[in-house]
Amino acid sequence: MSKQFDVVVIGAGPGGYIAAIRAAQLGFSVACIEGWKNPKGELALGGTCLNVGCIPSKALLQSSENVEQIEHKFSEHGITAAGVKVDIAKMQSRKDGIVTKMTKGIEFLFRKNKVTWLKGFGKFVSAGDNYTIEVSTGEKAAAKESVTAKHVIIATGSKARHLPGVPVDNVNICDNEGALMFGAAPKRLGVIGAGVIGLELGSVWRRLGSEVTVLEALPTFLGVCDDAISKEAWKVFTKEQSLNIKLGVKIEKVTQKKTAITVDYTDDKGLAQKLECDKLIVSVGRIPNTDGLGATTVGLKMTDRGFIEVDDHCKTNLPNVFAIGDVVRGPMLAHKAEDEGVAVAETIAGQKPHIDFNTIPWIIYTSPEVAWVGKNEQQLKAEGVEVKTGQFPFMANGRALGQGESGGFVKIIADAKTDRILGGHIIHAHASELIQELVTAMEFKAAAEDIARIVHGHPTLSEAVREAALAVDKRTLNM
Ligand code: FAD
Ligand code: NAI
Repeated sequence: MSKQFDVVVIGAGPGGYIAAIRAAQLGFSVACIEGWKNPKGELALGGTCLNVGCIPSKALLQSSENVEQIEHKFSEHGITAAGVKVDIAKMQSRKDGIVTKMTKGIEFLFRKNKVTWLKGFGKFVSAGDNYTIEVSTGEKAAAKESVTAKHVIIATGSKARHLPGVPVDNVNICDNEGALMFGAAPKRLGVIGAGVIGLELGSVWRRLGSEVTVLEALPTFLGVCDDAISKEAWKVFTKEQSLNIKLGVKIEKVTQKKTAITVDYTDDKGLAQKLECDKLIVSVGRIPNTDGLGATTVGLKMTDRGFIEVDDHCKTNLPNVFAIGDVVRGPMLAHKAEDEGVAVAETIAGQKPHIDFNTIPWIIYTSPEVAWVGKNEQQLKAEGVEVKTGQFPFMANGRALGQGESGGFVKIIADAKTDRILGGHIIHAHASELIQELVTAMEFKAAAEDIARIVHGHPTLSEAVREAALAVDKRTLNM
């Protein structure tokens, strides 16, 4: 006999585990199916984000930034440290410890909320009033079990996109999984793709001593950001940090020899070039993961690009089946997956949740960090929206000067007629924390004037956000 649940969630990444917890809080009997195994072969909850994404990358970004600070930035404070040693094995085990703490934390949360963890991968076998899902670990000898549920939430996430003819072995040619596990900084690191992963992981290994060359297909750098921000980021990354970023390239061939990897590519002038490196990271985007889900068995509709098709409320074409997170449209971000998870659980409970996709923040955890919410100036202009903008540099902010982090600026874009904030863009060492004020402001449909009139603590970095809001009305006080 199959076990019966009110809600079965397939996948325990940030979308799935949060959906399971929220559904349990709302009184449903809930099971969550997850068969991820970590490099030690242990089953682990948490998905891409906790195991090979957000959490481990941010741990290494912090460790490597500490190295950067001690080697290059402490001297301006009058601190010199001789004989600095970097122990990458220790850095890696610290990172692994954080991952374990977080993934075990979800096990605790499941027990606390009475969510049953079904260990294995889920596959639809039949539809009807109830859906039947088979759970199996994929190992031949292992038993399969079946569960039935009235409501199913698919949260199977995404996986790295690989390039044809570029064999990822996650030792020398790596996607995010291998790139987070190097035992030493490669002397020469090649990166294909100057997107979020390329810049974050390229930064980690550059700070730890690698010579990094990034090969990007597009002719523009960080085209998703506001032009003023991408220009500043380009200057800092290429000139101050010596990240060697080549734009407008076409990858022709990747050859792995015993001693090195050669990337043959055509540069932006159409000339044939070669990059020799010791390790190569392939970070050219991610694709939705619907492997082995049995989607066709139950007639689950997909888009041309392999995402599960959903409406604004994450409803699929099948009654009572929802899909959330990276496996559906929208930005591939953990917080987007989490909020969809909450919304779907509440929808199943008959509530009317709402997510404003326009106020989902983006953060790139480089140094400086790049963060934004809403639209950028070039997008708004292309849409014919009349805007006014205000910008304030951290160079004129006392706290930033005290911290030795005076690079970067805040830019606020407001509607020229109504003053409503349409976009916020920050480049600064602590942009990830500062952006949330603008997210909240936009969520509450604030005007730039609202921020300009709010008392901000002194001295704080957030005063730069207020000054940018004042700058929208051309009345900064400190510049
Ligand atoms: P996932 O986290 O991918 O989880 C899906 C889970 O489903 C997996 O555990 C998988 O094993 C499981 N699964 C798949 N198929 C089945 C099946 N048939 N049965 C059972 N289980 C199944 N986002 C941010 O917001 N901030 C960041 O700083 C950030 N950093 C990142 C860094 C890196 C290197 C990477 C790769 C990604 C990063 N992301 C970041 C993106 C973030 O990890 C994803 O957006 C997020 O994990 C998506 O959550 P999800 O629940 O949709 O899917
Ligand atoms: P990405 O979409 O951010 O960047 C991929 C880059 O590769 C793009 O600039 C693209 O033009 C380039 N590219 C594609 N094909 C190429 C080719 N053949 N040759 C050279 N360049 C090529 O994808 P990335 O960096 O792999 O990250 C995947 C996703 O994971 C991100 O989009 C984001 O959703 C999520 N993520 C989020 C993070 C965060 O929030 N801080 C951190 C890391 C990942």
